[in-house]
Parts: sequence; structure tokens; C-alpha cells
Amino acid sequence: MSTKAPKPLVTFYSGEEFPLELHKVRIVQKLFLVPIERRLEALKEGGFNTFQLRTTDVFLDMLTDSGTNAMSDNQLSAMMQADDAYAGSQSFYRLQKAVEDVLGAKYYLPVHQGRAAENILSTAYVNKTSLVPMNYHFTTAMAHITQNGGRIVELLYPEAYVINSSHPFKGNMNVEALEECIQRTGKEHIPFIRMEASTNLIGGQPFSVQNMRDVRAIADKYGIRVVLDASLLGENAYLVKQREKEFMNKSMKEIIQTFTGMADIIYFSARKITSSRGGGICMNNESIYKELEALVPLYEGFTTYGGISTREIEAMAVGLYETLDETMICQSPSFIKYLVDESMKKGIPMITPAGVLGAHVDAMSFCSHIPQTEYPAGALVAAFFLISGVRGMERGSISNQRDEEGNETYADMELMRLAVPRRVFTLSQIKYVIDRLSWLYDNRELIGGLKFTYEPTVLRFFMGKLTPTSDWTEKLMTKFRQDFGDSL
Ligand code: F0G
Repeated sequence: MSTKAPKPLVTFYSGEEFPLELHKVRIVQKLFLVPIERRLEALKEGGFNTFQLRTTDVFLDMLTDSGTNAMSDNQLSAMMQADDAYAGSQSFYRLQKAVEDVLGAKYYLPVHQGRAAENILSTAYVNKTSLVPMNYHFTTAMAHITQNGGRIVELLYPEAYVINSSHPFKGNMNVEALEECIQRTGKEHIPFIRMEASTNLIGGQPFSVQNMRDVRAIADKYGIRVVLDASLLGENAYLVKQREKEFMNKSMKEIIQTFTGMADIIYFSARKITSSRGGGICMNNESIYKELEALVPLYEGFTTYGGISTREIEAMAVGLYETLDETMICQSPSFIKYLVDESMKKGIPMITPAGVLGAHVDAMSFCSHIPQTEYPAGALVAAFFLISGVRGMERGSISNQRDEEGNETYADMELMRLAVPRRVFTLSQIKYVIDRLSWLYDNRELIGGLKFTYEPTVLRFFMGKLTPTSDWTEKLMTKFRQDFGDSL
């Protein structure tokens, strides 16, 4: 299989290829591009962890797409008709209808965000004897499974770990390994198989419909549930339309529902899929719905609001329908592709093919002089913020958790993720990112390592604090001033 270049919606006379904004800007927010000296102070105050920065020190916030996608005029206006009621709100029923229309699921349980769904699913189904096979873990999904005493196993094909590849579906689950795993473990110890649309931690790489069919067939053979994490399903479906022959002429709705129709349980972070807040668990099987229903009032709130404000519920409903609009959903992946392709032309090591959510820089290669014990991805993220004001996210060993004996578990990939939330950045801002990334690449020898000064045991990457292993940040700042004078 090879990746065909995604078909652009607009072809240019010049033959040039670049993403065109298919929306107009109607509300804007001021950004802060503070001098590099202030950025160094901010890094020190935040323990060299970009989660600890304030947005007043950040120029382009590429930390995540979670809750940061631009909302549409229709979403904002829908928020005005919110019906506040503890029980039986009209807003809830509008959302329930959207879930059925878009995801094809009859039953819907609202939760306040994606990890709340993971909590409920793990509380209901995971115990000390459980093993959950998945194409790849997400930090919070894994944390909830291990908190309940279970373990996870990641089953991907070797291609998934190849940094530069032309494979269109690096997120495919290794189905031979899945069957072997079920036979070895015993199906009674496998509460569900988890399929994550667009495997977040290995570069936002999609899986194909055919792969989901193969997984479904094995699940049926052994009588095991399939859980689909649909947080990034819209973009996964868009890439199926671009890359999987059978689906090139199908609508977004047909592709999305082909995926969801094969899952027993679908859950999602609405912060991602619907450009709003909130989350949900949905299904077509009434007995599964009944098994999970009671946990919603316990952890989230009554079953017609689930910890989400009714305004956000209205925005979720509209956002779900908008996920079916190709001119909206193509926006982030096409900007990511531009960012990846242009960076590659400058020799910067990036994950290919370009995926969804963000562009991913291969820190293991960018900072090949930094040992994994000194967190090359964390160091690169700190260095890049210092020299650009662009806030990326570490997706490497810092984002991993230690094993039961307290040993480090080094990540398969050390990545700097530069998220490209939907319809937020302009092309000139993306060009700025490429410019500064290219300068940093030419000066990469100046980047040094990091070490923890404060390390929480659970999800350490959020609140952890680190410090540089030498005075490399000062040296990098001096070089920046030499090369850029008094430029911001
Ligand atoms: N599943 C996937 C695939 C995700 O990417 C996320 C969140 C979650 C579940 C959890 O959802 O944040 O609403 O609780 N991803 C964000 C990110 C945090 O930055 O990648 P949540």
C-alpha cells in the first residue's frame, strides 16, 4: 500500500500546493509574543514543562486541540438556546438526536470529557485479571485501566514505529497478534478490545475500515466487546476517504457510520471531535447501556447533563453535525500536511505520512546527542518554546508512566507534537513555525537534556517539574540574540 497525496479541494493555477482557509475570521483574540528573555523566565517558573506555562507568555498555542478548536457561528448561536434543567433538558435531547444521526448510536450517556468515559468503562469492566488489547494506548485511557488493576497491550504492525513511511494506515491493529493474544490470555480476561481512531501518541496515524472489519471478525469469534475511542474519528474518516480506495467516493457520514457500526461501545472527548467541551459514551445495545448508566450520576451528574453545561451540550450537537462537513474537517489535516512537508524540505525529521491533530517532530533524531534518560522530546519542546514562543507538547518518555517496580519505561517514540487545532491558525503563522523550527534544527547541538525535580506518580507529565542538566538554555538564548538581533 502507498499513500496517495490527499486530493486538494482547490487546485491552484500556479501548481503550488498550500492549504486554503475555507472559513472567514469573525472574532479574534490578541496573542502575546514576549521577548526570549521573558520566555526563559517563564520556562524556569514552569519547571520546563509547557503544561505549566500561562498563555500570556505563549505566542502560538500548539499544546493540544482539546477544547481549543475554533467554534463556528452556528455553535455559538446554538449555545443561546440552552435549556437549563437538572433533568430532561431539551438541550440533551437535541444532542441525543445528533449522536444518533451522526454516530448512528441509539443510546447516549453524557460525561464531562473523554477521560471520564474511560473512568466509567474501566470501573465497569476492568479488574486485576484484565488485559486490554489496543492499537495504541492514550495516556488517560491507560491510567484508568491500570488504576483499576488491569494491564494493557499494544498491538501494532512494525510499520507503525517507522518514522518515515508511506504507509497510509500506521494505526492499524495487528490482527494476527490480537488473535494470538486472545488465545494466550483467555478471552475471559479480556473485557474489551480498544481501537483508538488516529492513534494520538504515535503521530496521529489512522486505521482503515478494513482493519476494523478484521478486528470485529476476531472479536465476534471470541465473543469480546470492541470499544472505539472516537475522539479523533472525524479526521480518521477524512483520511480513509483520501487513502482507502473503497471509500474515496463515500460521504463522511457513511465512513463514520461504517466505523461506529462495528463497535459495541463508542466513546469520545467532545473537546476534540465536536470543537466544544464534554464527552460521551454511546451504543446500540440496551443491556450495555444499562450496565453503564448507573455510573454516570455517581461520577458525572444526572444522565441528561453528565457534568456538561447545557450551553456546551448545544455546541456539541451542532459540532457533531459539522464533523460531517469535509470543508471543515480537512482544515487541520491539510495544514498539518503543509507543516510536515515544508519542514521535511528543510531536513527536519518529522513523522510521515502527515497525520491528524498535529505535526510530530522526531526528537530522537533531532536531538540524537541527548540520551533517552534525559528526555530528548521534553528538551526539544522546552527549547522550541524558548526560541519561538510556540508551545508544543512532549509526547515521549515524560508522558509515559513508571512500571510497578518504579523503573522508567522509555517511550517507543520521542516526539514533539505541534497541535494544529481546527481553523485557529493562519498560513503565515504556520510559516513562522517552520522558520523557527528550521533555525533550531541548524542549532540543535546547543540543546541539552532535562531531569525531574518533582515527579508525581500518576500522569507525571501534567504537573511534573524539570530542570536543564546544564546551562544550555542560556547558551541557546545568546545564539538567538546573535542571529536575530532584537527581533521578538
Ligand atoms: N482519547 C484520545 C484519543 C485523546 O486524544 C484524548 C485527549 C482523550 C481520549 C481524553 O479526552 O482530554 O477530553 O479527557 N487528548 C488530549 C490531547 C488531552 O492533547 O491529545 P479528554
